[in-house]
Amino acid sequence: MTAQLIDGTALARAIRDEVARRLLAPPLRGIKPGLAVILVGDDAASQVYVRNKIKACHEAGLFSRFDKFDATLTEAELLARIEALNADPRVHGILVQMPLPRHIDARRVISTIAVHKDVDGFSVHSAGELASGLSGFRPCTPAGCMKLIESTGLNLRGKHAVVVGRSNTVGKPMAFLLLQADATVTICHSQTPDLGLHTRLADVLVVAVGRQDTVRADMVKRGAVVIDVGMNRNPAGKLCGDVDFAGVAKVASAITPVPGGVGPMTIAMLLVNTVQAAERSLQ
Ligand code: GUN
Repeated sequence: MTAQLIDGTALARAIRDEVARRLLAPPLRGIKPGLAVILVGDDAASQVYVRNKIKACHEAGLFSRFDKFDATLTEAELLARIEALNADPRVHGILVQMPLPRHIDARRVISTIAVHKDVDGFSVHSAGELASGLSGFRPCTPAGCMKLIESTGLNLRGKHAVVVGRSNTVGKPMAFLLLQADATVTICHSQTPDLGLHTRLADVLVVAVGRQDTVRADMVKRGAVVIDVGMNRNPAGKLCGDVDFAGVAKVASAITPVPGGVGPMTIAMLLVNTVQAAERSLQ
């Protein structure tokens, strides 16, 4: 391995420590930012993610409340719960863990969260603010990827950034954040005929498709910064990303591991957004 390992665990810890300091300083001094987390159903991965988010809140000194519902919860009941949290002044951020059971319309659920409590940044309003270059909540995973890229010391201005994946939660917001940092941005997806043709041009490569070995060493330019958003299990049951880590680490200048790269940053940025929501509520 020649690439620098980008340590998401350490960077996330530093950001969480900074969050804890912000709670003690003006304007928040004495006011605890509150995050409401809603989980519907028994998805095993979601239960782990939610537990980690709530634990991070407590460790940083935030207030959190957790609603866990059976998968039989109706959409109307969920919307009513969100409306109640919208009106609760102790709650500054609301997160509904995805995916939701199929009988619930996720888009309608996200639209019901008050714009000023949308700490996931998933609403059409937040997406529009990002696309327009306005201040607003940035989705936590791409915001965390930007911090990881920044931590390498790379200046994105004029660089070619390639994003693989076009989801509303990672790929698209990632592309807008890179564009805002003055990178030239290419978005690739499942219908891109020759992925390597594009990825080989990338100074910065962000991969978020959810498939092991999507990017191999021969698809990466020497010296590129590689951010792996994937979280998969290989046939042996071991966690792995979308990038062939061992191979790509020989050509990249810096690369995130899985686990210990993007994952911890998603949670850290959720805390940052919740603190920001609380600070804004005072203005
Ligand atoms: N499911 C997987 N990642 C996320 C996330 O960042 N936010 C929410 N709400 N659900 C998720």
